[in-house]
Amino acid sequence: MANDAVLKIEGKEFPLPTMVGSEGEKAIDVRNLRAQTGYITYDDGFGNTGSCTSGITFIDGDAGILRYRGYPIEQLAEHSSFVETAYLIIHGELPNAKQRRHFGDLLRLHSPVHAAMDHLFEGFPLGSHPMAILSALLNSLGCYYPHLATNRVQEDLANFEEASAIAISKVRTIAAMSYRKSRGLPYIYPKRTLPYCENFLHMMFSQPYEDYVCTPEVAQALNLFLLLHADHEQNCSTSTVRMVASSGANLFASVAAGVCALWGPLHGGANMAVIEMLESIHAEGDDGSKFIESARSGKAGHRLMGFGHRVYRNYDPRAKIIKASFDKALASLGIKDDPLLAIARRLEDAALSDQYFLSRKLYPNVDFYSGLIMRALGIPQNMFTVMFAIGRMPGWIAHWKEVASNPKNKIYRPRQVFTGNAKRDYVLMEKRA
Ligand code: ACO
Repeated sequence: MANDAVLKIEGKEFPLPTMVGSEGEKAIDVRNLRAQTGYITYDDGFGNTGSCTSGITFIDGDAGILRYRGYPIEQLAEHSSFVETAYLIIHGELPNAKQRRHFGDLLRLHSPVHAAMDHLFEGFPLGSHPMAILSALLNSLGCYYPHLATNRVQEDLANFEEASAIAISKVRTIAAMSYRKSRGLPYIYPKRTLPYCENFLHMMFSQPYEDYVCTPEVAQALNLFLLLHADHEQNCSTSTVRMVASSGANLFASVAAGVCALWGPLHGGANMAVIEMLESIHAEGDDGSKFIESARSGKAGHRLMGFGHRVYRNYDPRAKIIKASFDKALASLGIKDDPLLAIARRLEDAALSDQYFLSRKLYPNVDFYSGLIMRALGIPQNMFTVMFAIGRMPGWIAHWKEVASNPKNKIYRPRQVFTGNAKRDYVLMEKRA
């Protein structure tokens, strides 16, 4: 740290320390600002605020770079799998063969849910949104495994390996069960012989009288989707997980909160919103040009969903990878002409040559094409954001651990600039207008 920033305020100068991250990211340390000056920083939406130091994921939004634990996303997408990448994100290093086998064994061991949890699903009305069920059931894991959810950080950390394997493995089982519940279908239990993605698709699509067997291409497409979503530094849901973790709450409670934050259409819900947008453009017989015109208003309900990103002011590298693998995946699934894909491509071409989008640096984000991949895999629309949650689980877990194991952890507690009424006296009912 060096004291090389100076803030001049009300005629007085205050030196402020600066910091530089391992990739050259610069920050001004304002932790003592209020005590020194009486001022706080105002940064609605936190676009300029570093809430923590973190060693998990690096993003350079201007250059379109994403790395997990130092490894470029392009290399992981080509050579790794979701489960191996989950291990990397959580433990910091790629596993050797023995570690990878042990991790796989743990995930297999924890794939079924506690039998008593079946009754929790029964309590939800038919048609319940699977994100609501997912969040509630993830939180309830703390009731079934109280020794892993003590809310005493050192004890929860001591059992972290078991708790994290339970979260990664069971999120997929709960997700599939919530889908079957929402459709009034009987539950299909996991098979220990199946790898992670194949097992999920089995629980989603098998019937009691007939197993669903997926092709290697389908399993690979799902693996890629999950791997690309595995972490994305301080996004809305991860910051939520860290916020909850900062109070000393257990892993299950923290990731359940992450699911709620992910649900909204400006975050994980965007993949579903993209498909809804494409379907409505298709239904109206628009080739996309009318929609692009109205999207230039930038208003909610008119925005080009799947475009723009708080951090990427360039093509989202995950969108590039999904787009590049798209044709192969569709061909392997036997899908030749998808009218929604044709509209998506036209929208992208139009937006990338439109001054409104160019001047605001709005490029496709991961959600622009990921919904189309999910749709091609047969995943129902209301499960898209759940799929994102399954993918994001390793990131949430790694961030929970980073917060829990930080000996200098402070509870997250931002301040505000109050703009409400100044002090006034209580008015008796009979005197009110
Ligand atoms: N379509 C049209 N205009 C847009 C869009 C869009 N998708 N996104 C941003 N803009 C415009 C805004 O209206 C604003 O214009 P102005 O300067 O004239 O007022 C400008 O671009 C900046 O927009 P902000 O909302 O300030 O950008 P912010 O960084 O806060 O928002 C966000 C990022 C939420 C992702 C936004 O781009 C958006 O709503 N995109 C669509 C939803 C989406 O795809 N979300 C997924 C994000 S990725 C993820 O969570 C995995």
